[in-house]
Amino acid sequence: MRIIAIANQKGGCGKTTTAINLAAALGRNGRRVLLIDLDPQAHASLGLNVESQDSIYNVISRLTPRKLRLENIIQRIENSFDIVPSNILVGTLEQELADEIGRELKLSEVIATVKENYDYILIDCAPSLGILTVNALRASDELIIPVETSRFSIQGVEHLLDIVNLVRDRLNHAIQCRVLITMFDSRLRHSFAMLETFRQKFSELLFDTIVHTSVKLKESAVLGQTVGVYDKYSRGTKDYFTLSKEIICAEKKQPAPAAASVEPKAFSEKMGTLIRQEVKDVQQLFPVRFSYDAAAAKSVFVTGSFNDWSLDDHCRLTQANGKWEAVIALKPGVYKYQFIVDGVWKEDSRNPNKERNSFGDINSLIEVTANG
Ligand SMILES: Nc1ncnc2c1ncn2[C@@H]1O[C@H](COP(=O)(O)OP(=O)(O)OP(=O)(O)O)[C@@H](O)[C@H]1O
Ligand SMILES: [Mg+2]
Repeated sequence: MRIIAIANQKGGCGKTTTAINLAAALGRNGRRVLLIDLDPQAHASLGLNVESQDSIYNVISRLTPRKLRLENIIQRIENSFDIVPSNILVGTLEQELADEIGRELKLSEVIATVKENYDYILIDCAPSLGILTVNALRASDELIIPVETSRFSIQGVEHLLDIVNLVRDRLNHAIQCRVLITMFDSRLRHSFAMLETFRQKFSELLFDTIVHTSVKLKESAVLGQTVGVYDKYSRGTKDYFTLSKEIICAEKKQPAPAAASVEPKAFSEKMGTLIRQEVKDVQQLFPVRFSYDAAAAKSVFVTGSFNDWSLDDHCRLTQANGKWEAVIALKPGVYKYQFIVDGVWKEDSRNPNKERNSFGDINSLIEVTANG
């Protein structure tokens, strides 16, 4: 059972988008997930078409005439995860709790009443460092800090980490923090330079997964759907699924999730079809070796039209004897590509096939043929 707050006092950095789509992706992995919308703006609720008169306010407030238990206000989303909705009244808790004894523990206490029913509880926080966010931190074991790759985000993350240290020292509660790069635009050189700065600054705190900018994430929120339902093949769906896998990998001695209720025979037939399909696709792929000479470089990626110019760990080169190399399986076709060496875009100087691109520099070209 893991409780994860998603917080950053900076507005618009992808907290709610991460909360909604990570909840859905964990749900698709068979985990029982509860998403608590703790933001009076109620963007997570609205982004899932949930408009509710009852919210976590009715559960925590002592002044409300309509006092409810947490389990009474939970709603089911897309048959995949649960949500505790928010509304504007949640904002009044900041003042109401200000004078209460044990005010930092209120959320933790109400979560305790349902936590046995879930594998994961995610908390979407407001863009502030008020008492509600402190409640979320105190209730959580882990914190995800979504950040855009801009220079000002760094100070914001450092400030939030100071608050986390304060919670550890004053409230005697340690939280494991991770930083998630969101809205990464792989078309901009600036993004790669900033990514390098983030890697140096936050190193092991950074998730390997990067969430790329994807218009489908915006569109799905407007329609009140998770991105996996809106467009299951979009980059947004893939990125949040990868993030869910990275988070699941860190599960320690967790009880196995309840098995899906599928007949064993039907399941094995379905698996058989899937495996045959996978093998067919794999047979159509050809290994292509990309290499780059840069003994002093710290990181080298290759990116191109074969992966939509995105940056992920599949296209990271590894170093051996001063040479950087990666083998990538590609379908037959003609591809444009470039190397990114310590955040700087470079053509493949050993490849004579090239073309000028709209940024005014050079893409290298490669053709993969069916006969290798
Ligand atoms: N990876 C992405 N690609 C494209 N658009 C995105 C991405 N992530 C978030 N957005 C969009 O950016 C806007 C802000 O995102 P979101 O609401 O998730 O941020 P937030 O940190 O929760 O904001 P707030 O601080 O107001 O709560 C939204 O319109 C959202 O659809
Ligand atoms: Mg939000």
